[in-house]
Amino acid sequence: MSRVRTAVLISGRGTNLAALIEAARAPDYPAEIALVISNRHESAGLAVARAAGIPAQIILHQDYDSREAFDRAIDVAVRVSSISLVCAAGFMRIHSEWFVRQWEGRLINIHPSLLPAFPGIKVHERVLQAGERISGCTVHFVTPELDSGPIIAQATVAVLPGDTRETLAERVLAEEHKLYPQALAMVASGRVKLENDRAIFRDSSTDCSSLRHAPL
Ligand code: GAR
Repeated sequence: MSRVRTAVLISGRGTNLAALIEAARAPDYPAEIALVISNRHESAGLAVARAAGIPAQIILHQDYDSREAFDRAIDVAVRVSSISLVCAAGFMRIHSEWFVRQWEGRLINIHPSLLPAFPGIKVHERVLQAGERISGCTVHFVTPELDSGPIIAQATVAVLPGDTRETLAERVLAEEHKLYPQALAMVASGRVKLENDRAIFRDSSTDCSSLRHAPL
C-alpha cells in the first residue's frame, strides 16, 4: 500500500505530532509522517520526531522578512521531500494566503475549540469565562482566515464545574490525540475532500464518524 507522505508543522511540545506518529505505525494507516518542520529551535516536538527517526528541520520565521517568504521556505522544504499533505499541529504562525492556496485541500489544522467558536489564542480561558458547558477540538481544512475553514472532524468535551484552564486543556488535548489521527486518515484515504470551499464526505458513515463525544 502506498501511503501519503505527510509533513507536520509544529512550534512547541509536539504531543499531537506524537499521536500522529504513533497512529502511522499501523501498517494499514494511509499516511506516513515523513517530515517535521518547526519554526522554533526549542520545540520539544523536534526530539519527538528525531526519536522516531523522522527528518526534522528548523525554519525560523524571524529569518524571513515576510510571512510569504517564510512560507515559501516551508514550501520548498516540503516539496523537496515529496510531501503531499501538510498537518499543522500546534504551529503558532498564521499561513500566508499564497501558502494556503498552494496547499488548498492538502493543508489541515487542529484547534482546541469547537470552531467556529473561540478561534485564536487563550481558548480555554475564554471558554470558561463564557460559561460554556461543552468544549472540544476541531480538525479543519486551512483557509486564509485564521482557525477557519471547512470542518473535517470534531470531538466534544464536557466543561465540568471547577474546571480550570489546565484541567480543561488536558481533557481537550486527550481528545485531540484521538481526533487528529482519525481526521488525517480520512483526508489521506480520500474519504473527505475540499470541494468548492466545503468538506465533502465520500459516504455518510464517514460523515458520522467525524464526530466524537468524550465520555463524562
Ligand atoms: C494543541 O492544543 C493545538 O490544538 C493547539 O496548540 C496545542 C499544541 O499542542 N493549536 C492551536 O491553538 C492552533 N490555533 P502540541 O504541541 O502538544 O500538539
